[in-house]
Amino acid sequence: FQEQQADQPLDGKRIVVTAGPTREAVDPVRFFTNHSSGKMGYAIAEAAYEMGADVTLISGPVVIQAPAGVSVQRVETAEEMYEAVMKEYEGADVVVKTAAVADYRPKQVHAHKMKKQDGSLTIELERTKDILKELGEKKTHQFLIGFAAETNDVEQYAKQKLTSKNADMIVANNVSQEGAGFGGDTNIITLYHRDGSQQHFDKMTKKQAAQALLKEAAAQIGEGK
Ligand code: CTP
Ligand code: CA
Repeated sequence: FQEQQADQPLDGKRIVVTAGPTREAVDPVRFFTNHSSGKMGYAIAEAAYEMGADVTLISGPVVIQAPAGVSVQRVETAEEMYEAVMKEYEGADVVVKTAAVADYRPKQVHAHKMKKQDGSLTIELERTKDILKELGEKKTHQFLIGFAAETNDVEQYAKQKLTSKNADMIVANNVSQEGAGFGGDTNIITLYHRDGSQQHFDKMTKKQAAQALLKEAAAQIGEGK
């Protein structure tokens, strides 16, 4: 029994994980997106399930397979991801916002395929909703984990995101670092905590990184933080 407890630190917890990129349409055949593969978020969903959690994975368009035992909801746009996450929020104990959500979308979505013309083209973009920020504002009992994929000044940006989004933990990585970029099977993460402390992990597989961050979250929930 003791061993099972140690193995399953998220037993009975409801976890919502978002993963992958979003797609913001310009016209019926074109969209804006980013390099997110979904691998980190899918690894978190899989690891959380193995640690005993009831897992809902809200995923943008990716090519990888969903892990067994996990309930998957597929979305495309930032707005769809927002709607899906908000529906699950009340019942969630932990939310992990791994998804690379578009910050902007085309202000106007053309009904027909745009035809090319001479000269340059300007597409006006408008802001999407900041899902994590809103989760932070509406937080009641949930443990909120955000990501920060940066190319520079990682610590400064990660700490800013922790406060501005009212998150309980920020998982930061420097995506310009070898072994921590988009699409790979490894990551180099640092966890930033509310008490100002941080934990750095050397390069490991995304599955190991998922286990490390979930173990830390489970410990903090256990302490009632
Ligand atoms: N995020 C979100 N909704 C958005 C944008 C970001 O929920 N519209 C979440 C991401 O899922 C991630 C965290 O916020 O967990 C940080 O995302 P990131 O892109 O690093 O930060 P931003 O706040 O968008 O700031 P910037 O892109 O300017 O660094
Ligand atoms: Ca962003």
